[in-house]
Amino acid sequence: KHCILIGAPVDCGKRRRGCLMGPDAYRTAGIAEAITELGHTVEDLGNLAPRQVDVPAPKNDKVHKLAENVGWTLTLMEAAQEAAPRGMPIFMGGDHALASGTVAGMAAHAAKEGRPFFALWLDAHSDIHTPDTTDSGNLHGTPVGYVTGRDGFDAYPPLPAKVESRNICMVGLRSVDAPEHAILVDGDVELVDMRRIDEEGISAPLQAFLDRVEAENGMLHVSLDVDFLDPSIAPAVGTTVPGGATVREGHLVMEILSDSGLVTSLDLVELNPFLDDRGKTANLMVDLTASLLGRRVFDRPTRSKK
Ligand code: ARG
Ligand code: MN
Ligand code: MN
Ligand code: MN
Repeated sequence: KHCILIGAPVDCGKRRRGCLMGPDAYRTAGIAEAITELGHTVEDLGNLAPRQVDVPAPKNDKVHKLAENVGWTLTLMEAAQEAAPRGMPIFMGGDHALASGTVAGMAAHAAKEGRPFFALWLDAHSDIHTPDTTDSGNLHGTPVGYVTGRDGFDAYPPLPAKVESRNICMVGLRSVDAPEHAILVDGDVELVDMRRIDEEGISAPLQAFLDRVEAENGMLHVSLDVDFLDPSIAPAVGTTVPGGATVREGHLVMEILSDSGLVTSLDLVELNPFLDDRGKTANLMVDLTASLLGRRVFDRPTRSKK
């Protein structure tokens, strides 16, 4: 594989600052070396910057830094489409607001290839608000709302290709706001909350989703939010929610994804190095990325497809 590292120091998706240091924390934790060691090639495009745009004042006056969020969406939508034909983009965030650009851009790329687009959302949160429904005003809680074509994103660029909500699988859910809950229970996003993980394990629901991606010859984007993981193992995030995935569940997800050979792009989001404990979270995120890209203790020849 050819991996394209793209620094996206997005820090405007919420009020607590620090995610802008994320890309450099991944570099410091040795992300490029870890990938190269697995036999892949790596190219680092450095850190991008948001397009400067003017936007009308938002209807909801709680909305924080709308123009900067729109600017990043434009930048990353373009960067994704530029990188995707050449390799596997790995977007090093930055907060989850960046996914408005990366997911929209990857979906546009899939449409150009004539292939269906799927997204795996590894997160405590569903991030399916709109600028009108968000109570916090933090736009990192809205990227799924944007890419699925919900109303209220008038200040944002028109979506080149809408993401079908039935092609999204959310794993790790344990903090969903009331307006998000209302949309999700009436919709067809595949929802894997922590109770389902406790009862069914994490591999069965994930494998069922991957079987669909494969059957439809889809492209798969993975959006990994640090708060998918339990705060005890991944403290470097502003929106900690107790009861998250363990180190072992995290690696198992990545290994199953690796075996599937289906992943075509990856977001690493919400790492706030200012809150980390001697690089613990950054190192874990790099290790998870390595598992996704093929790091193994032993192979499982019967299951691996590629
Ligand atoms: N639902 C909450 C909100 O809208 C939390 C969102 C957290 N999102 C995230 N990407 N960490 O404010
Ligand atoms: Mn998130
Ligand atoms: Mn989250
Ligand atoms: Mn909220």
